[in-house]
Amino acid sequence: MGFLILWEKNQFLFYSIMSYHQSFQKSYIYTALWLAILGGFSLGAHIAMPMGFGWNLPPFYQIWVQTHGHMQLIGWTGLFIIGVSLYFMPRFVKVPLPYQRLTKWILVFITTGLILKTGALFTIPYLEAGATTSFLTYLVRFSAALEWVGVVLYLFILVILFKRKPRNYKGLKSVQPFFAMMITGLFVYSSLHLLQYFIFDVAIRMPWSSLTIDVFIKLVLFPVVFAFSVRTFPLFIQIPPFRLSFFWFGIVYGICSVIYLAGAFYDMPLHLDVAAKILISFVILILTYHLRLIPKMFLSPRHFMIRYYGEKYLKNRIDSGAFTRARPGYYDIGQYGRFELLIYSAYIWLLIYAVIEILRSVSQLTPLSLPFGHDPVRHIFLLGFITLLIFGMAQRMLPGFMKKKGLWSRRIVLWTFLLCNLAALGRVLPMLLPQRWLGGVPEIHQWLMYWFGMSGLFAIIALILLLVNLWRTFRG
Ligand code: HEM
Repeated sequence: MGFLILWEKNQFLFYSIMSYHQSFQKSYIYTALWLAILGGFSLGAHIAMPMGFGWNLPPFYQIWVQTHGHMQLIGWTGLFIIGVSLYFMPRFVKVPLPYQRLTKWILVFITTGLILKTGALFTIPYLEAGATTSFLTYLVRFSAALEWVGVVLYLFILVILFKRKPRNYKGLKSVQPFFAMMITGLFVYSSLHLLQYFIFDVAIRMPWSSLTIDVFIKLVLFPVVFAFSVRTFPLFIQIPPFRLSFFWFGIVYGICSVIYLAGAFYDMPLHLDVAAKILISFVILILTYHLRLIPKMFLSPRHFMIRYYGEKYLKNRIDSGAFTRARPGYYDIGQYGRFELLIYSAYIWLLIYAVIEILRSVSQLTPLSLPFGHDPVRHIFLLGFITLLIFGMAQRMLPGFMKKKGLWSRRIVLWTFLLCNLAALGRVLPMLLPQRWLGGVPEIHQWLMYWFGMSGLFAIIALILLLVNLWRTFRG
């Protein structure tokens, strides 16, 4: 056992190598789940239900949509990613997390900001303009600023952590562009989000909503989730380490994303922004192909191993008994249930997303008219890909982070797989398939719309099951 000496809090601190890492902050996961159940997904369900069943939409519908979107991005995916990365990143770069005491403040600032802002935004439209509404307007601005401070503190810790990485450490190089995009994207998203509340009337739909969502999807979610998949999948699912040098793919992806996002401000010559979007989707397809998840899904464990590891490796594993002791094709003995189903389906949703994005872009450049709207395609990514991946990784990784040997219930893993896919299909299909593609049979469309109406409820049940499973696992 050795020691690491760091300059922090104006003094030299001695860390023992074994114990310098902060333990896992499960409060991030619980908060993300509660915000999703009571906030983001409930708001989504409350909008989708009337749309699906033909009831009246809630008054001030646009505030509902906007709050649902932001809660889902920052409260659900954001807090989950922050919580996991505060545990994972220091171990990845082999340096203790700096300013560990700040981690609880990050959570407090972001959560308080989200809750106060939502409360104020939902109250303002119901009141006559006066002293109370101007107080609430200040409250919205103050809480948006709190949220921003929380995010910036997190980014600050992350930047310091990367700066302190050992000089000879090479592990970060390939994923560096992805983490750089994530840090930039999160800063730009939160700053634009905050600025809007100071520039525009807070009671209207924020004009930059669509742009900020695109920033979050392109620069935060895909880069961080992909970098994370590349680093962790070979440990959990028996796939070979990623061989492609994806540093340059990260650079191409980053440049294309900036060109695409700049298209919101300028009329790009030669449809450069559309071309960039096509390239982004191709990069996603190529990177996913090189993850080897698709052959992993369809080949038997034996065939997969022979093709990607060679006969000799397979023979060694059989001789050492490892091949038969563990679940065939995986490193675990089944104590995390069929978590891989969630991960596989997440990546299938990602492939669908990339293909549809290419088709949509091509139809912008050619007379070919494809009627795929922005909203369902966005949900393919956010609900189909990101949310399913969070469910899969949470049930596979978090027990280990909490030093538990397995999940409380493996059956719940299967239920969450079923419910999440039902929710994603219901949320996406009815909006994606135009009526004329359904052979003009109105009944089919009507049933699809009922499914759409129920999609939020399916997702909420899945979230409650996940919460119970993690809570019982962590307590066990
Ligand atoms: C089954 C679960 C979900 C349901 C029922 C749902 C429902 C909805 C509905 C009805 C809209 C409004 C669409 C419109 O304007 O016509 C919407 C928008 C949106 N949703 Fe969801 N959603 C779900 C899951 C998610 C997830 C998981 C995320 C993100 C992780 C998300 C992020 C968004 C965003 C960013 C918007 C756009 C907000 C804006 O325009 O300001 N949704 N959702």
